[in-house]
Amino acid sequence: MDYDVKDMTLAEPGRLAVEWAYRSMPVLALIRKRFAKEKPLRGLRLGACLHVTTETASLMETLKAGGAEVRLCASNPLSTQDYVAAYLVKYHSIPVYAIKGEDTETYYRHIHAVLDMKPHLTMDDGADLVSMIHSKRKDLIRGIVGGTEETTTGVIRLRAMARRGVLRFPIVAVNDAQTKYLFDNRYGTGQSTIDGIIRATNRLVAGSVFVVCGYGWCSRGLAMRAHGLGASVVVTEVDPLKALEAVMDGYRVMPIDEAAQIGDFFCTLTGNINVIRREHFLMMKDGAIVSNSGHFNVELDLDGLGRITKKKRKIREFVEEYTLKNNRRVYVLGEGRLINLAAAEGHPSSVMDMSFANQALSAEYLAKNVKILKRQVYAVPEDIDHEIARLKLAAMGVRIDALTPEQRKYLASWEMGT
Ligand code: ADE
Repeated sequence: MDYDVKDMTLAEPGRLAVEWAYRSMPVLALIRKRFAKEKPLRGLRLGACLHVTTETASLMETLKAGGAEVRLCASNPLSTQDYVAAYLVKYHSIPVYAIKGEDTETYYRHIHAVLDMKPHLTMDDGADLVSMIHSKRKDLIRGIVGGTEETTTGVIRLRAMARRGVLRFPIVAVNDAQTKYLFDNRYGTGQSTIDGIIRATNRLVAGSVFVVCGYGWCSRGLAMRAHGLGASVVVTEVDPLKALEAVMDGYRVMPIDEAAQIGDFFCTLTGNINVIRREHFLMMKDGAIVSNSGHFNVELDLDGLGRITKKKRKIREFVEEYTLKNNRRVYVLGEGRLINLAAAEGHPSSVMDMSFANQALSAEYLAKNVKILKRQVYAVPEDIDHEIARLKLAAMGVRIDALTPEQRKYLASWEMGT
């Protein structure tokens, strides 16, 4: 079997790490059990480009249990857990192509290795598979049934393709399921980003000024957790509604060129390019700590920072010190790559349980609806979303009420008023 991982002797610690994660993933376990019986993905080849973590291992096992032949590569050069890559190869014979810290050339070689299986289904986190298929591997398009997309940034790219009429197969936007973005983006990113920043720096958050760039679901989660740790949170936004919401949530809102002057910590989560630029780095206080938790490492203008830097050194793992021409020092975490996966372990398993339940059920949905789906970006069907919420509540031992017949009738009527 072909694969490319760092070290196969890591498979055993990988097995224990995966066992630990699975304890918090009951919904995916239920789906895996059903998939093993019903084999809804039988005969399909599925190429996945995801962060290679313990949680992703659980998803890969589920897809394989469902009858799919799977291959996996990393969706970010810094996010791979090498012991998981070795575990999947050794214990599940899944070809994995991922090494933490791989260079850009290796990253793309690994994407090609997955595409060489001629997938019927693609599973992306950031749309790199789909984008490669539409640019350099067009020969594969004819065989593809559809794909799924995990993250906000990927969905933005794919919707742009659909709008321009260049998308050549259907995509299910897993990110947009309520059981995904309301939990993974908010609580997952909130906790794991703080985790990454603290693991990288070991700095105290209490009493600091913490600047959160953007106020989408990921940023809301981060602002909430930074506030909970005692920081004074500042939010920057371009969308007036989101900015207003941040104000009402109790945060200070201001433009980045004001925030740049007062922040101790900065984190970008916007999905956009060059959010913190050269001129902002020049305004920062000596010792400012800057990170990104958006999907791509384009949110910080590191080229611009390089041009105003006279000295750069790695001061500790995941922390680079830039001494600027104005003699102030700025610390960039994890090379500007998503800090929750670069310096920590990504979102905790219990939240990925729901995200990846959406992935597995969306793959099944694509397989079942080959004939009717068009070249569009689809939402995850509402019944899948609700079923995942139901299963998660049941796994947590939380019971809820059901509508009485009278309430059901009332909701369906319009006659009854005061
Ligand atoms: N994205 C964010 N956290 C993740 C995790 N733990 N596994 C896979 N993808 C992720």
